[in-house]
Amino acid sequence: MSATDERVAVVTGASKGLGAAIARRFAREGIRVVACARTEDKLRQVAESDPDRILPVPCDVTQSQQVKRVIDTALEHFGRIDILVNNAGLGRFGKVHELSEEDWDEMMAVNLKGAFLACKYAIPHLIRQKGHIVNISSVAGTVTFPGGGGYCASKFGLMALSDVLTQELKPHEVKVCTLCPGSILTEFGAAKPYALKPEQVAETVWQMVSAPAGVIYNQIIMRPQVPPEMQK
Ligand SMILES: NC(=O)c1ccc[n+]([C@@H]2O[C@H](COP(=O)([O-])OP(=O)(O)OC[C@H]3O[C@@H](n4cnc5c(N)ncnc54)[C@H](OP(=O)(O)O)[C@@H]3O)[C@@H](O)[C@H]2O)c1
Repeated sequence: MSATDERVAVVTGASKGLGAAIARRFAREGIRVVACARTEDKLRQVAESDPDRILPVPCDVTQSQQVKRVIDTALEHFGRIDILVNNAGLGRFGKVHELSEEDWDEMMAVNLKGAFLACKYAIPHLIRQKGHIVNISSVAGTVTFPGGGGYCASKFGLMALSDVLTQELKPHEVKVCTLCPGSILTEFGAAKPYALKPEQVAETVWQMVSAPAGVIYNQIIMRPQVPPEMQK
């Protein structure tokens, strides 16, 4: 695909961090992007970088009717949906017996239910386009660690959802891709001396949705390369 890419993407969690980088990367290729998140002013800032191609639509992905409105808006404005990126997510960390019920519920609602709702409403349109779903999981969706009870459970759940989607959508030629990054330099990302840049991860998302005909990048795990002097 080139700078005249005609496709339309919905990117959740696009007000900052990785989601904003994905929206900008797609727009650079000509893709029209419906960018959603809760914080309207930040969304508008992201859209200002390419107002012709990025349409900000406020949305809390845990709210069914708001997610449906995003999909409806994408269709009203652009007439099609080719790509859904389920990126909205958050992490609250603590040992299981110390994690609050509210933090558990919020991670499940945003990281898992949000992806379910967006898929639920977008899939009929993605089938029409033989499109792509990209689920942003995490290395924490492939390995566990103490303090990650809620976050890992939500991301392992997203991996299971992705697997099911892969099987359900194979006959419809919708490509389901799951990206599992390590630490990314965002507000959410840990303040580590090394981390992936959001733009590097967004580049990988772009590569996933640009796979040649007949090829699916089902799952990619990517990590920052740790300099030898910082390795334990
Ligand atoms: N940073 C890392 O080290 C890292 C590593 C692996 C995977 N990831 C994953 O990458 C994704 C993006 O994370 P990030 O690092 O870019 O975090 P971030 O900078 O905190 O951005 C998170 C995005 O999610 C949105 N969001 C949160 N709750 C939402 C809700 N209820 N409805 C709609 N949008 C919501 C936020 O927007 P609003 O607050 O405006 O709604 C924001 O745009 C997440 O799924 C995360 O789990 C991150």
